[in-house]
This record gives sequence, C-alpha cells and structure tokens, in this order.
Amino acid sequence: MKKIYIKTWGCQMNEYDSFIIKNILEKKINCKNTTEYKKADILILNTCSIREKSQEKLFHQLGRWKTLKKKNPKIIIAVGGCVANQEEKKIYKRAPYVDIIFGTQTIHKLPKMIYEKKKNKNVLINTQLKTVKKFNVNTFYKQKNLSAYITIMEGCNKKCTFCIVPNTRGKEISRSHKDIILEIKNMVKNNIKEITLLGQNVNSYFYKNKIYTYTFSKLLYKISEIDEIKRIRFITSHPKDFSNKIIDSYKKIPKLVDFLHLPIQSGSNKILKLMKRGYNVERYKKIIKKILKIRPNMKISSDFIIGFPGETKKDFEKTLKIISEINFDNSFSFIYSKRPNTIASTMLDNVTLQEKKERLYKIQKILLYKKNQWNRRTIGTIQNILVHKKHEKLSKKLIGTTENNRTVCFSGSENKIGKIVKVEITKMKKKYFEGKMVD
Ligand code: SAH
Ligand code: F3S
Repeated sequence: MKKIYIKTWGCQMNEYDSFIIKNILEKKINCKNTTEYKKADILILNTCSIREKSQEKLFHQLGRWKTLKKKNPKIIIAVGGCVANQEEKKIYKRAPYVDIIFGTQTIHKLPKMIYEKKKNKNVLINTQLKTVKKFNVNTFYKQKNLSAYITIMEGCNKKCTFCIVPNTRGKEISRSHKDIILEIKNMVKNNIKEITLLGQNVNSYFYKNKIYTYTFSKLLYKISEIDEIKRIRFITSHPKDFSNKIIDSYKKIPKLVDFLHLPIQSGSNKILKLMKRGYNVERYKKIIKKILKIRPNMKISSDFIIGFPGETKKDFEKTLKIISEINFDNSFSFIYSKRPNTIASTMLDNVTLQEKKERLYKIQKILLYKKNQWNRRTIGTIQNILVHKKHEKLSKKLIGTTENNRTVCFSGSENKIGKIVKVEITKMKKKYFEGKMVD
C-alpha cells in the first residue's frame, strides 16, 4: 500500500482541503497517510500565498524532497494550493523534478493525475478555477475530535487592494445547501458535534437553483436544525456583508457561539478606503453594537494589517484606539506584504520596515493584553463547555472548550463527553482554565 505525506501551510481552508485530499487518496487509490515524510511514496505540499516569502519557502521545501527523489525516483512530488495557482510556470521551470501541479479547485483530480503520472514522464498540471467539483465526493469522516471544518463557498468577489486571494482562488462559488447538509449529516454519524463553516467571505454565501434560494442566514437556520450539532462557528466574515438578517440569526439560533471573527483590518477610515474594504469605522462599530445588544457576552476578534502604504503614525494610533474601544479577543496582526498583481502593490509603500516592526510590536502587545483581560474576566463566570474528551493523564478529569475556544479542565464522568455542560471557571493556568461543573 502506498504511503502519502501531506504538508499544509496557511489557513483553515487549506487544512480542510488537505483533509479532503487525504480522504480521496485513501479511498480512490488505496493509500495510507503517514506523518513521516521519509517513508512516503507520494509527497504533497498544499501551499498558501497570502503573504510574501511563500515562494522561497516552497523551493526550500522542494529542495529537501529532491534529495529523497534522487535516492528513489519512484517517489511522486505534487504541489498544490494558492502558490501553485499563482506560480505554476515558475514551479516547473525551477523544480523540474516536481511531478504534479494541482490547483485550489482541482484537488479531486489528484487520483487520476497520480495514475497518469505512472505512464507519463512530463509534469502534469491542472490549476483550473471555476468549479467546486472537488467537494462532490462522498467524503467520509474519521476524526479523533468532536469538531470539524466544512467549506461552504470558495473564492472571493471582493477586491481588497492588498489581497491575492481573488487571483488564487477565483470568483465566489457557493456549494449547494444540499451538499453541505449531506456532508454535515455524514460528520454527525462520525460523532462530530461542533462545525466551523469556512469561506473567504461566508456572509456572501448564495446558492440558487430552480426551487430554492439559499443565503447565509438561511443556511445557518437549516444547519441548526440538525440535532446532533451542538455548536456552529464560521470564518471569515466581511463587515460589509454582515447584514441585519445575519445579526438577527444570533437571536434565533442559540447554537451560534458567542464568538465572532470580524476583521476590521485598520482603525483609520483613510486606510480602509485605500484598502477598498467598503465600510468605515463608524459602520463597523454599529454592527458590533447591534450584535452586543442581542448577545451581551459576545467576544469579537479581528485581523489587522500594519504598515499599509500611506499609513501614518496617526492612522496607526486610530487602530490602537479601536482595539481599546471594541476590546477584541484573540486577534491577529500582520505586517503589510506586497503581493503581485494587486492594486496596493502599485501604491507608494512609504513606511520603513523598522517602523512597521515597531508598530507590529506595539499592536501585538495590546492585543495580547486584551486577550489576557478576557481570560481574567472569565474567572468566576459560568461558561457553556463542549466536553471533548477525558484528560489524558488525570483520571476523572474532562477536557472541554468555551465558546471563545479556551480549554477548560474539570471533574466529571465520561458520559458528559459530546455534551454541553455548565462549568464555573475557578482558576487560570498557563494554557487552560480549571473549573467545576455546576449542573
Ligand atoms: N477573506 C478574509 C481573509 C483572508 S486573508 C477576510 O475578508 O478577512 C486573512 C488575513 O490575512 C486578512 O484578514 C488580512 O488581515 C491578512 N492579509 C491578507 N493579505 C495580506 C497582505 N497582503 N499583507 C498582510 N496581511 C494580509
Ligand atoms: Fe481577500 Fe478581501 Fe476577499 S481580504 S479574501 S479580497 S474579502
């Protein structure tokens, strides 16, 4: 039996794609996954190109695999993901020993490409966009955990001036609601209790056939009807498309967690305009206000880009100000990275690297402070905990997660696994909370 090794970079969508790749290959060409690349017959790299250096990182990785291939020419090396879509020609010119180049939307073609490769000496390339056929597989779910990802839409129709995703993942395509529900029901059979809906902009999910029209909020209602699913999460949301209907679903769907990742990117209206995000700070604050009215315990997280072309000290201070106003939980910040063929790449990048690094240091410090502040505020509260498993070492102890994804350890019997229980948080350890069950 052939062994496959998959290395994945980047976002949750890539993780989910790698999961599908593994499933398809195990099913269609009778492979087995290995975590030791030196023992693999098929080496797969699923890449991410959201920020620079991904290209160099790719050739570095391929260099290591080249040595293995020299020893054993039968090894197949396949490169996929966003860098493959963006740099397909460069890859086979610079690394002619690569056997297969597949795209973000053609992972379902891999079994056939691997089969053909045995007869064909040339590199095989298929990086087509425009389809979501990769999902039309009867994926089976063998997972250790109670949580799973599911991609509901691919691509992005927005044109944020800094972002490469519309080039690498193409235009928005939503999967049919039937496919999504079927897949979640499959997951449920495999004991999945918590799902995270994935998409570059899940809020603009839209599926239409002759009978139905499905928007994101309608899809949320449909999914919430599946009894066995206890919690629903989604990433990523775009503030521009975060409609009143979606906000309203927080009233009607208790399974939606009290945690929302809603990237604002910057606290300066001037920068938001240059980024072409399609909202301003005031609109963002209005959305948050409406959500908090329905869910006072909601925690909000965000992404921030530091040193976007034209960002002055004043603009940056506005970003720091919004962090204090919203009290973001568990957020991410990145130094602006110039990406090929984006509008921002033609703008004058006038902030020095040193200045960018200093700003990043400052923002990360305050984001960490805010996260810890939420941690401290959690002590003494009663939280809904999804119980995942027994503690590996301590007997009679269970491990679960809060709605904002913090780990909690508490005493309880095994029959609580898979259920939501109420736990009073008593103590904060380095990496987790301790608590006691109250029902
Ligand atoms: N579709 C999502 C996010 C996609 S990328 C959204 O709308 O938010 C994830 C994050 O990477 C972005 O939110 C942004 O903060 C960051 N990012 C994207 N392009 C970047 C770039 N060129 N430089 C630095 N950070 C970037
Ligand atoms: Fe990128 Fe903006 Fe779409 S960040 S993925 S172009 S919403």
